[in-house]
Amino acid sequence: MPNCNWDKNCRFVTLKLIEEHLKMKEYIDNIVFKITSEISADHKCEAYAIGGFVRDILLERKTTDIDIVVTGNGIDIAKDVAKRLGKVKMSVFKNFGTAMFKFQNIEYEFVGARKESYSHNSRKPIVEKGTIKDDQNRRDFTINTLAISLNTNTWGELTDPFDGVYDLENRTIKTPLEPGITFSDDPLRMMRAIRFATQLQFRIEDKTFEAITKNRERINIVSMERITDEINKIILSEKPSTGFKLLEKTGLLKIIFPELQKLKGIDKKNGISHKDNFYHTLEVLDQITSSTDNLWLRWAALLHDIAKPATKKFDNVHGWTFHAHNHYGQKMIPSIFKRLRLPLNEKMKFIQKMVYLHMRPIALIEDIVTDSAVRRLLFEAGDDIDDLMILCEADITSKNPKKVEKHLRNFKIVRRKLKEIEEKDRVRNFQPPISGDVIMKTFNLKPCYEVGVIKSAIKEAILDGEINNSYNEAYQFMIKKGKEIGLTLNN
Ligand code: CTP
Repeated sequence: MPNCNWDKNCRFVTLKLIEEHLKMKEYIDNIVFKITSEISADHKCEAYAIGGFVRDILLERKTTDIDIVVTGNGIDIAKDVAKRLGKVKMSVFKNFGTAMFKFQNIEYEFVGARKESYSHNSRKPIVEKGTIKDDQNRRDFTINTLAISLNTNTWGELTDPFDGVYDLENRTIKTPLEPGITFSDDPLRMMRAIRFATQLQFRIEDKTFEAITKNRERINIVSMERITDEINKIILSEKPSTGFKLLEKTGLLKIIFPELQKLKGIDKKNGISHKDNFYHTLEVLDQITSSTDNLWLRWAALLHDIAKPATKKFDNVHGWTFHAHNHYGQKMIPSIFKRLRLPLNEKMKFIQKMVYLHMRPIALIEDIVTDSAVRRLLFEAGDDIDDLMILCEADITSKNPKKVEKHLRNFKIVRRKLKEIEEKDRVRNFQPPISGDVIMKTFNLKPCYEVGVIKSAIKEAILDGEINNSYNEAYQFMIKKGKEIGLTLNN
């Protein structure tokens, strides 16, 4: 078996080390495994730790979920194991024949080996009982079929009927059966293949890849929640572009996320072309991952130019323009979120705000950075200013290193200015120093149009730097403004 170069994220323990690995301390000491072994023997059946847990210990990735498959009744065995452990709260899903409990911060899920497709969330009811081999047959990828025996006579042995270890070593995503069968059992697996390829930086084997392309329309029968779960996992990985490029190549993107697909392509007129906004977006998304783990800020990176296709125009004077794409972009977000079953709450509003403001800091550095422009930006971004700056820095994707350097240098100036002005003027969470009540009392007014005029004049004067953000200066300004519009003081 070839030796591979493993990068820092996906360290693989070579075959020689597997044995040692399987005997690792946690495993040997795992009380749940020990009790499961005894109980399954009492029930005259076999038990195995299987799937993602085994894959992840071999890849030295942290796991908090352990699936245990038994060649008997998963729920009954789980109940007996829980009883022996004492004080664990168990959830039973009768329809799926599964039972779960948490013990020492690890979630254990017990299931009976089955002959047909294995899918956690599928609505398909539980199917015919099978052997461990039957169960492994119907799992998604060879790397997820690995099982470790919890049976006394074979304790700790690895069961690997599809050469999953070989595929782990060669960093390959491959279905155990003919891929058409595996994907028709649960078409979400097409998304899972791409998600694992992204998270692990593995390659999808050719036949498996072709089958995704061929069966892509079948994704339509999968619930949007499950699809979006996979999209989120792709976004949260270290190099999300891998996943989106694969989604595009297989044709899945067009079906599940047409707005993103539309960003792809370059138009040329009179010898002038614009950049490919799909690849630019993916570059921004990849870049932002080194600065934030916040899923929603990463979503903002993915969506920041989403309205470029809809706003694209060409004229001989300006060439290609995308006027107000930030404005239309923020308007497109609710319908995208609704379709993708993403939350329509303050998280979405945050993304809308980021998309709307994403050009402001860069516009600032193109001119001389005036205090008043910085103050206005602080006022509009409020507490999200730091996230906005992260997004804007990630948005610099020029191929010209000098240009990138210049932009980043200027951003440093903007950040410094933001800090200075915030310390001085406190406009980040701006509350007008003069309330409507004070204005009404001063000029003996009832609630009316003029109160609004004075209030917004005070705000503008503060943002423009005409007056300081203090009660006294704002009060004097109010008197002056009131007189200007013909109001008289209340004596
Ligand atoms: N599985 C499957 N088909 C699916 C979902 C899951 O065959 N559509 C099987 C795989 O063997 C997988 C196991 O069920 O390893 C557990 O599924 P899940 O917890 O969803 O995934 P993990 O592989 O554990 O990975 P992750 O936790 O990263 O989602």
